[in-house]
Amino acid sequence: MQEFFEFGIGSRVLYKLGLASELGPIIDELGAQRIFVVADKGVVSAGLLAPVLDGLRGNAEIVGVFDSVPANSSVAKVMEGAQAAIAAEADLIVAMGGGSPIDTAKAIRIILTNGGQLLDYQGYNVIPARLTPMIAIPTTSGTGSEVTPYAMIRDEDQDLKLSFTSRYLVPDVAILDPLLTRSLPPTLTAATGIDALSHAIETFVSTENNPFSNGLALTAIDLIANNLRDAVQSGNDIDARGHMLIAACMAGMACANSYFGVIHALAHAIGGKFHVHHGTAISIFMPVGMRFNSAVVPDRYVRIARAMGVNAGGRSDKEVIADGIGAVATLALDCGLPARLRDVGVPEDALPELAEIALLDGAIYHNPRVATAAELLEMLKETW
Ligand SMILES: [Fe+2]
Repeated sequence: MQEFFEFGIGSRVLYKLGLASELGPIIDELGAQRIFVVADKGVVSAGLLAPVLDGLRGNAEIVGVFDSVPANSSVAKVMEGAQAAIAAEADLIVAMGGGSPIDTAKAIRIILTNGGQLLDYQGYNVIPARLTPMIAIPTTSGTGSEVTPYAMIRDEDQDLKLSFTSRYLVPDVAILDPLLTRSLPPTLTAATGIDALSHAIETFVSTENNPFSNGLALTAIDLIANNLRDAVQSGNDIDARGHMLIAACMAGMACANSYFGVIHALAHAIGGKFHVHHGTAISIFMPVGMRFNSAVVPDRYVRIARAMGVNAGGRSDKEVIADGIGAVATLALDCGLPARLRDVGVPEDALPELAEIALLDGAIYHNPRVATAAELLEMLKETW
């Protein structure tokens, strides 16, 4: 165990069916007067935003609705939203959607509070002070962004995913309302669910794992193993949707404190370069990344296998670990996710450059096994 670790959950988390439409008392408690809403078009067209806005009115003024956030949001999009929020004199940000709108809203707050250019604040603990309050309402069960200190924003000039990390980025309130995830299509349910699973697994083996995040991670793995298939196959299964939302949030809390690993480093590389959906990229790299790491922390992978539902009785650790990795791969396959890089538009000749990009990605720093560029290239080749 680490001699020193820090564990914190900056967000107040509330769970209830229909809660997103009843935010009035929370707005009152925060003392907000001028609400700036960040969302994406999908949330608007699915009819999810209107009831939330209705629930906000009467408690405060809605001074702006910035609903043009794309998947894989960009520095330019954050700056556009920040200028609108500044002009509207917003004193509360409400973000609704998947990881992209929530991360965009987090980054908008940096500029709203501090001014300047977004790239001035890139990196780890660069933000100087507390930010404008924020409520995060996830409509996917994946990123856990509603409780994490991270914002991933694409730098379109460099084709890179930049990470912003600061405890000030953690949203003040996270609203878990499973009614909002019912309309998420099967493919996105699957990709975001596997992303949540990867947060739990990468956190559990990270060099910064600790007993608090371990507990959250193992429970998240168990919940995802038992609910993701149902959520994918029957979108209206509120029990499965609710458990997935909770699992993603728990995995988010875990990785907020214990970080990521090689699977995320590889996924960030192909997300930045080829705009592959984050969860889809993660899903492709899960088996190969787990195999790579299981060589150095086998005990951890036995526990992961058990949490995935593998029966460990009377068998060797090696067999149990292989079954655990197999269970993750089968879950992704059952959920209809692609297994190879060639199926998501990554050309073979790009692999060496992708290995170099992954080597420099911040997510790799806490991986339990040091990976060289050659080893990363091997993993990329194996998944191509
Ligand atoms: Fe992720």
